[in-house]
Amino acid sequence: MAVSFRPLRGSFGAEVVGIDPKLAVDEPTFRSVEEAWYRHSILLFRGLTMSPADHIAFTRRLGPLHIMTPLQYNHPDYPEVFVVANAEENGKPFGMRKVGLGFHTDGEDKVRPNAGSFLHAHKVPPEGGDTMWADMYAAWETLPGEIRRTVAGRRARFSRIDLHHVHYPEEPAWTEEQKRARPDVWHPIARRHPRSGRIALYVGRWAVDIEGLPANEGRELIQTMQAHSRKPEFIYRHSWRVGDAMLWDNRCTLHCATEFDDQRYVRMMFRTTIEGEVPELAIAV
Ligand SMILES: [Fe+2]
Repeated sequence: MAVSFRPLRGSFGAEVVGIDPKLAVDEPTFRSVEEAWYRHSILLFRGLTMSPADHIAFTRRLGPLHIMTPLQYNHPDYPEVFVVANAEENGKPFGMRKVGLGFHTDGEDKVRPNAGSFLHAHKVPPEGGDTMWADMYAAWETLPGEIRRTVAGRRARFSRIDLHHVHYPEEPAWTEEQKRARPDVWHPIARRHPRSGRIALYVGRWAVDIEGLPANEGRELIQTMQAHSRKPEFIYRHSWRVGDAMLWDNRCTLHCATEFDDQRYVRMMFRTTIEGEVPELAIAV
């Protein structure tokens, strides 16, 4: 079966056209999809009828799967599937609510952030609940030279401890035990992608300040780079239909969920997640 790729926004993003709706594909087809993923960073599939087992099987071909913790939000029969939903099953909440509001990349607060994520829409609201992705190769390439020279070779500190109350204001403050379980991590600001070899700007929402710079200066620079990466020219915004699925590369994109009326509508998405590697510092910039 010959698949083709229809650009979504210039070279950023492509829709995969003509693929089996369960993603049961032969090796050459899989390779062409994988190569397109590294070329376009985000891949949209439409009209998929894949089951959770199909979803897992396809994602596993891209790399080892990550099982999300806490386990309570994973599919009861398929722990590899993380459920993002305001749904109920058998009278009990099913899935995690209000996930991913604010530009971030999955697992950026861990030593080995997740390489990729694959989100499949099962129920969508008639309005709202879009997802946005930012092209972080383009964000790096267009960053003012002065900032690039300042941050080149440096790492940013990512801290859930510092920012938990900012991103989750309605949740209780973290206990000392929770803080110990999620210590700060440092990642290169200019990150080299292990497959494409290209450099991406790597500053999601848990980035706080910069190693080797005064805290205030670092904080200001992080905020400037975050604002830069959210400029409309770097963003693809997707309005979901049932059966849509998006495969994104966490090493060179940010993404952000948007609100919807969760008292009126049900939104239910299944996500598989791919284990990542320790981010590589790009030396030559
Ligand atoms: Fe996310």
